[in-house]
Amino acid sequence: MSLFRAHPLRTTLTALLLGASTGALAQAPALTADSLSLKQKIGQLQQMHVEAKTAAEIPEELKAAIRNGQVGSILNIPSPEVANELQRIAMTESAAKIPLIFARDVIHGYRTIMPTPLGQAASWNADLVEKGARAAAVEASSMGIRWTFAPMIDISRDSRWGRITESFGEDPHLTSVLTVASVRGYQGDSLSDPTSIAATAKHFVGYGAAEGGRDYNVTYIPEPLLHNIYLPPFKAAVDAGVATIMSAFNELNGVPASAHDYAINTVLRGEFGFDGVIVSDWDSVLELVAHGYAEDKKQAALQALKAGLDIEMVSTTIQENLPALMDGGKVTEAELDAKVKRILDLKHQLGLFEQPYSKGDPAKSILTPEHKNLAEQLALESLVLLKNDKQTLPLAKGKSVALIGPLAHAAHDQLGSWVLDAQKKDSVTVLDAFRQVLGQDKLFYSQALYSSRSRDSKDFAQAIDQAKKADVIVYVGGEEAVLSGEAHSRADTRLPGAQEQLIRELKKTGKPLVVVIMAGRPIALNDVIDEMDALVMAWHPGTMGGPAIVRLLQGDADPVGRLPVTWPKVTGQMPIYYNHPSSGRPASEGNFTQMDDFPLEAFQHSTGHKNHYIDIGFKPQFPFGFGLSYSSVSYSDIKLDKKSMRADGELKVSAKITNTGKRPVTETVQLYIRDLVASSVRPVRELKSFQRVTLKPKESKRVTFTLRSSDLAFYNQKLEHVVEPGEFHVWIAPNAELGMQTEFSVR
Ligand code: NOJ
Repeated sequence: MSLFRAHPLRTTLTALLLGASTGALAQAPALTADSLSLKQKIGQLQQMHVEAKTAAEIPEELKAAIRNGQVGSILNIPSPEVANELQRIAMTESAAKIPLIFARDVIHGYRTIMPTPLGQAASWNADLVEKGARAAAVEASSMGIRWTFAPMIDISRDSRWGRITESFGEDPHLTSVLTVASVRGYQGDSLSDPTSIAATAKHFVGYGAAEGGRDYNVTYIPEPLLHNIYLPPFKAAVDAGVATIMSAFNELNGVPASAHDYAINTVLRGEFGFDGVIVSDWDSVLELVAHGYAEDKKQAALQALKAGLDIEMVSTTIQENLPALMDGGKVTEAELDAKVKRILDLKHQLGLFEQPYSKGDPAKSILTPEHKNLAEQLALESLVLLKNDKQTLPLAKGKSVALIGPLAHAAHDQLGSWVLDAQKKDSVTVLDAFRQVLGQDKLFYSQALYSSRSRDSKDFAQAIDQAKKADVIVYVGGEEAVLSGEAHSRADTRLPGAQEQLIRELKKTGKPLVVVIMAGRPIALNDVIDEMDALVMAWHPGTMGGPAIVRLLQGDADPVGRLPVTWPKVTGQMPIYYNHPSSGRPASEGNFTQMDDFPLEAFQHSTGHKNHYIDIGFKPQFPFGFGLSYSSVSYSDIKLDKKSMRADGELKVSAKITNTGKRPVTETVQLYIRDLVASSVRPVRELKSFQRVTLKPKESKRVTFTLRSSDLAFYNQKLEHVVEPGEFHVWIAPNAELGMQTEFSVR
């Protein structure tokens, strides 16, 4: 019998389902349990999207579906006007009077755009990431949005995949830390705060492992790897109280993620204890048919329901087929009720029964000076200084600048992927920002290429003329926003169009050449990096990218960003990631001969039989965690408080960090470990912690970390979470390749 009908009292639905406080119930609409029909319950499982820009444009079919109780939530809400009109229909014209939840992809800002998530991850600054998400929540909620489909926490080891830009990179620890920050930022102290929005951890699970980096592609992830690398950020999200989780598009080990009983029921609901709402990705229930996993929509609906999904986004597979599935005894009403309960719980937590309508004040919430300052700070801390020969940067004050390139004044493109509500008129570009600090006689600008993809070199001559007039060239290029993001994977991750050619031409002027890259992914620069005197990665830096970049180039701010992803030399090195298991023939300097140096007719075995490519070697262009500063830092005197620890104990490890240069520095000190011998081959390094330390010139500080048994544990071949006794290496390091190393044992 139905959970609703079983209750003897004509009490409110919220009281019955939610055990809510009497205070809240007193204000809740008098919704009776009896009034919720099977159809209305099924309606709660349906998420529709709306394309209307104004209330007048809302399609009649959508209005009718809401009146009939066939819709529980709506995505792509463009304005409070549209939200409130849809809500009015739900609250006054439908029988059940259950409020709708309004969702939208608010991914890295609503109108004030922060750097893309990959850029934010480069700040390694959880506090700023949390503040960025809070600002986005304040802006979005003022527009009637109470649910975002962020953060995307898919581990991404292959930057051909366009969605790497939406991720926090390749590392489970860094991603987990930023996931927690992001969930806290969106959801605030309480979901019932009208400025809070429900977060969604997505995409569950393995989507970032798309084979070949091709979007929506198959993924094969052995279960120990799934548990050690891909699942930890989702566990962190659940522990942080994330309200919802989105199932992914990909097929995982033969089963589409949106029907993955093991991943969802056993791991997410069972092991992690997630009891919030699980929403499908757009049409991903219907796509079970295209995958060839379901023979028709009815089977697809059954598979998704049984796998644990609560809400179907856009496609109507469940709504159409659930009545027949229930008639046939395949799905029980108790199973349906459990899903409806989770959805109503969420609506209750958001305070929607008490306050269904948007009362926000967009004019006071959006693009505030506070949000713009935050966007600038986050952009600044996302910038990674990758190369700085002969101290080309910071630019000497008073020097003239030739600002060249297709992204130097690209108000739209600096915003990056997923900016549904951004307006390019809000952006401050690099050209705008340089104009603020350099007089007309000191700034020479040329776009040189019509777009980042352009192959037309007709404006090169004019760009070279501008370059010749200045003391230094600042080239701003990379990828336009549309070259990364969903369904925008690239098989060749070099600079697109004629950019490499332009960089070579600029270098021929003999002027110092500073290159700033805006892109959704690391760019394979092997063929042109030698032309560059300095290189700054700016990701897509958002609304305030221009001032942040110019402050950094001019030395009014110091670089602090660190790579959240390994940067390959060439595309063919991918997938590439620092925390790989050891090969039986690990590559090393002494054993690598580049193929140009092979003697003619060399004997096959004479050139080194190690785990490397004969053309490009084995090192990335830049390692994970790498980033330069305008100062220099030394690491010394690594110490342990004891040489061994118990498997359930802890141990302190510290090192002295010294600013050996002439400028202040903020160093991201990274702690890595390696389990030397184990029942599964363990990664050559794993990040377990990091701390940022700020040092004045010549100042030293001892940075101390506590290593706990949970940092040493891993899922073994039997999927047991174990700490295995034995020897460990530990590094306190500036990046994944260097650092001070010592060892300890676990007894
Ligand atoms: C598809 C994307 O995969 C997902 O990340 C997004 O949230 C939904 N579309 C809704 O727009």
